[in-house]
Amino acid sequence: MKIIDKIDKMKTHARIIKKGNKLLGFVPTMGYLHEGHLSLIRAARKQSDVVTVSIFVNPIQFGQNEDYKKYPRDMQRDEELLKNYGVDILFYPEKKDMYPADFSTYVNVEKLTDGLCGKSRVGHFRGVTTVLVKLFEIIKPDIAYFGQKDAQQAFVIKKMIKDLNMDITMKILPTVREADGLAMSSRNTYLTGTLRKDAGLLNRSLILAADLVRSGEKDAKKIIKSIKDFLLASPNIKIDYIAITDTKELRDIAVVRGETLVAVSAFVGKTRLIDNVIINEKKAQENWKYDGLLSGRQAV
Ligand code: PAF
Repeated sequence: MKIIDKIDKMKTHARIIKKGNKLLGFVPTMGYLHEGHLSLIRAARKQSDVVTVSIFVNPIQFGQNEDYKKYPRDMQRDEELLKNYGVDILFYPEKKDMYPADFSTYVNVEKLTDGLCGKSRVGHFRGVTTVLVKLFEIIKPDIAYFGQKDAQQAFVIKKMIKDLNMDITMKILPTVREADGLAMSSRNTYLTGTLRKDAGLLNRSLILAADLVRSGEKDAKKIIKSIKDFLLASPNIKIDYIAITDTKELRDIAVVRGETLVAVSAFVGKTRLIDNVIINEKKAQENWKYDGLLSGRQAV
């Protein structure tokens, strides 16, 4: 595995790969890798000739009171994992090179970033899209891989790729979960004891929502109230938002019809977690199938 920390060197390398007509798969990460990342890397390994993974804890996507400084980092462990997974290039640029003192250009996807996480983490998606435009420009991937866990992020990036006519195929892979359904996240490391146990309730609240839709409930307000009551039964949970939206513009909907996103964000203790499920209301009636949820009935 080649380890590259300089932007110019990465660009030169990308140019050489392109000349060889090789398909370049790219998995952008902030490190502290878990099974969710590894599932993306496995897919990239299968579907492309050269796999590049970036590790960069991107300061501009964190709010002032967020966890940029304490975000978990373990470069040695990550390097080892990436080697074992057959990654070709690890790119880990430095903050001073990505954002020199005079940096002043940002990329912002409008509208799609107004609600959900965009509302509670103002400026977050502007940071994500800006760093991705830079990484795409440096690495020149043909295919880029993201997880469904960050549903709004995936929608926003897809729109950016389309709006900016980027020659990149985006692949979105299902959320990988712990045994109790908790969506894998580097931030899960902040959770111990009861907090870790209660974190599993987010997944269960989405199962509850999907169950309600399956049994014919279409009133979004009622479904949201059921999720809220379920989560607030734990004194450790503080809800950030519960949203039921369409899957095109991420607008709140009153009545569940066709493909619908149910997204939850909550603080478990001090740790903010997110999770979501896309329910196809029509399919739910027919064959009890939710994408990406771990359920007691396991019909995914
Ligand atoms: O999903 C993440 O880990 C980050 O938002 C990303 C896409 C690597 C950009 O910093």
